[in-house]
Amino acid sequence: MANVQIVNTKGLGAVVSRVQTDAVVSICAELKAIPAPLIPILHAVQEKIGFVPSESVPLIARELNLSIAEVHGVVSFYHYFRQDPGGRHTVHLCRAEACQAVGAGALEGHAKRTLEVDFHGTTRDGAIRLEPVYCLGNCALGPSVMIDHELHGRVSPQRFDQLMQDTRAAAAGKP
Ligand code: FES
Repeated sequence: MANVQIVNTKGLGAVVSRVQTDAVVSICAELKAIPAPLIPILHAVQEKIGFVPSESVPLIARELNLSIAEVHGVVSFYHYFRQDPGGRHTVHLCRAEACQAVGAGALEGHAKRTLEVDFHGTTRDGAIRLEPVYCLGNCALGPSVMIDHELHGRVSPQRFDQLMQDTRAAAAGKP
């Protein structure tokens, strides 16, 4: 087993523990022999740890005999891969056409401004992660927003603020 300690000093101040380091090494050992193993390894790391710590990138690169730039390029290209622990709640804003026609653009601007994040970002208190989505199947009731697994329709900026207030209150109740 590789003797590598990786420590994450970004995001919410999370520390990538020795256990997580061992998990990355073990995932690489298990999957590196399959064809085109990088993406499956990144999926497995995110599944196991919850995100792909930037400090694990050199480790994965070494295990796959790739450059750090190659691995980093793939992690940052696919927004699916999170590079920080994310928020305790995820808010998906619909950006597709039907919602755009009824104010999703304005809602997006309002959400980014009030949460002080861009898409794929997490609020400073760690409560909320903001993500785009392209149609939630709720087109007749846009603008649509999904908070964790709960769908909300006809979300005005005022309603969004209320939903965020409720979500933050729920987040505060979690460890
Ligand atoms: S376009 Fe937004 S839910 Fe379909």
